[in-house]
Parts: sequence; C-alpha cells; structure tokens
Amino acid sequence: MKVTIHKLFDYLLSTTTEVPDCVLGFSLSHSPRLRDFIGDLDPNLSLDWNGVSFQGLPALRAHVIAQAGLSETCTPDDVLITAGAAEANYLCLRQLLSAGDEMVTETPGWPQAAVLAKAIGVQLTTVKRHEADGWQLDLDALSNAVTPRTKVIFLSNPNNPTGQLLTQAELHQLAGIADRVGAWLIVDEVYAGLEWQGPRAPSIAGIYPRGITTGSVSKALGLQGLRTGWMICRDQGMIRDGVILRENSSEIMNILGEHIAEIALRPDRLAPALEKARAEGRVNLAMLDSFIASQPRLSWVKPQAGLIGLARLQGELAEPFARRLLAAPYRTFLLPGTAYDEPHHIRLGVGGGAEVRLGEGLARLAGCLAAQA
Ligand SMILES: Cc1ncc(COP(=O)(O)O)c(C=O)c1O
Repeated sequence: MKVTIHKLFDYLLSTTTEVPDCVLGFSLSHSPRLRDFIGDLDPNLSLDWNGVSFQGLPALRAHVIAQAGLSETCTPDDVLITAGAAEANYLCLRQLLSAGDEMVTETPGWPQAAVLAKAIGVQLTTVKRHEADGWQLDLDALSNAVTPRTKVIFLSNPNNPTGQLLTQAELHQLAGIADRVGAWLIVDEVYAGLEWQGPRAPSIAGIYPRGITTGSVSKALGLQGLRTGWMICRDQGMIRDGVILRENSSEIMNILGEHIAEIALRPDRLAPALEKARAEGRVNLAMLDSFIASQPRLSWVKPQAGLIGLARLQGELAEPFARRLLAAPYRTFLLPGTAYDEPHHIRLGVGGGAEVRLGEGLARLAGCLAAQA
C-alpha cells in the first residue's frame, strides 16, 4: 500500500510558503558552516562513492560506536551508515515487517514508524504517554500491548516530542519484554547528546541482541543537511538486510556527508561541539521555561533531554492557534500538537541559534496568547 502523509509533515508542507520572522520549534542545535570543516577535508577527495565499504567509511563507523558508548559490546561491523536516522528507521522497519505482523509504538512519538507500518499492512498498537505521568512511558502498558505476534517495538529515546528519557533500568526491562516474544526493539536516539540532568541513556544495541539503535549527526551537532546517520545492531543479518534494501533505493552513501560526519565525530571535535551545544541549549531552555511559567495559558513538563518539549495550551485548540501565530502580525512558527495527536498542546523548541530569534518569537507568542485570552 502507498505510504500516506502524517499530520506533522502535512502541517510542515502546508506552511512552507510562509516566511516567518521567528521560529519557536527548532529541534536541532545551531548548524555549523562548511568553513568549520574545510581545513580538515582533502581537496583531492574523489566524489565517487567511498570505494571501501557499502556499510560506510570504517573510521566513521568506529566513531559512531565510540560516541554511543558501545566500544565494549559492539564493533564497527555492527554499523550501517545511512541517510540520516530517518533512512536507518526506514531500512529496518521495511526489512523486518510483513503484512499481518504486529508493531508496538508510543504516542506522542515520532510518526515515521507508524506510517510505514500501516503501509506494509502491520497491525499497530500505540501505548499512550500521559502528561499527568510527566510523559513517562508506562512499561506495564507496553508489556500488555506486546503479544506473540509482535515483530517490532519502536520508541524514541529521548522521546520526540516530549524530551523524556528512558533510564538504563527501563531499557533493560524493555529488552526483557521484547525478548519474551523474540521481537526487535528499535530505539531511535536521534536526540541523544543533549541530556540536562544526568548521563546519556545507554544504547539498546549494547543491551539486547535484537536491539537496533538508530541515530545521526542531525540534532545535537546541527548537521541535518549532511543526511548522515546510522543503524547499530549486533545481528549481522539485519545490517546486511539494510545494505540490500539501500542498494535498491539510494544505493550508496553521500560521500561528503560521510567525510564531514567523520570529522565532526572525531573525539577532539565532538566533545567541544557538544559542550557548546549544551551550553546554548541550557540557556535557551531556561529562558523558555521561565517564559512558560509567566504565561497563564501555558504549562509544560520540562524536557529531560533535547531542545523540544510539549506545552499545554489553555483556551484554544493548538492548530488554529499555530496558524494565527504564523500569520501577521506575529509571523512566528511553531508546530501544533495535532502533529502528534495532542490537539491541546504546542511543540516548543529552542534550537537553531540566533537566526530563529527566540527572544522576539517568545514576545510575539506572548502577544498572540494575550490577544485571545
Ligand atoms: C525521532 C526522530 N527520528 C528521526 C528523525 C530524522 O532525523 P535525521 O535527520 O537523522 O534523518 C527525526 C527528525 O526530526 C526525529 O525527530
């Protein structure tokens, strides 16, 4: 069956012709410039494919393992470099699922898995995260949703859009739930690296043999346009299935993406880049947090990680509100929670650096909130 549009992309498509003055929804750190890498790039680099491996540059795969803290449990052979975490998710979901299988996922959550599962003819069960529980995932509910026909469990950690984190103990519990029925457990870690309270959560690929970690350089490092991400899995059949499907879609990786990502993930570049992104994110999230506290129509559960969260909006549905805010005189973009089946919430984000004009955007948001109250 054809892949159909999800609400999040539908909203983005319907608003792309607008040119907002401010953006309050950015999920990625300020993007570096090409000049930040040019000194480390080889001008003689061939723009053919990498010529070494269909899984991606070995040095890049080694960095991927190291940044995920998987050096003890995984090797670079367990990594497939992909066009972003989105392609990694696509390759594993498409290769693992068949019509009639069951998949369990979360809501609110990243919609990609549900859209693909529906197109394949998979029976989908969604476990609801509740705001009253701090948007934490209810593992008992998830366990009850898993049946012997469950082929895949798909989650994001940190969760998009709430920024809530699964702990090490919860990830082990999830592995046990998946193992009970032999299900694959895909944990999309695209927002990892910007944790505000504690350490980064461990990657599922190191915990569970049928665990698949997906991630990329898009968010914490702001390198979304490189389209460079990965899947990590200790099951060599899974990695090979990914290579085979990719051969029939984009065939090989983007060579510049691979090389720039390899430079960006070198330990001496990664640590300061993350430090800078964390410092900026902390300041901006604190600003957003006090803004929300000052607004009688808004409340939220502050994200534990990442640059986005869901705020409850009183007195108006999120989508008409987001469209009103995008129009003159406010001209400020944010995503309505309808994108995540949460019509009473708006997604607020602080990424994007100075260009998104966070302070001005919040002032305009305050104006729009006051005008309706
Ligand atoms: C949870 C999640 N996974 C994957 C993606 C896609 O990321 P990438 O740019 O790495 O393909 C996004 C983008 O917003 C996301 O939020």
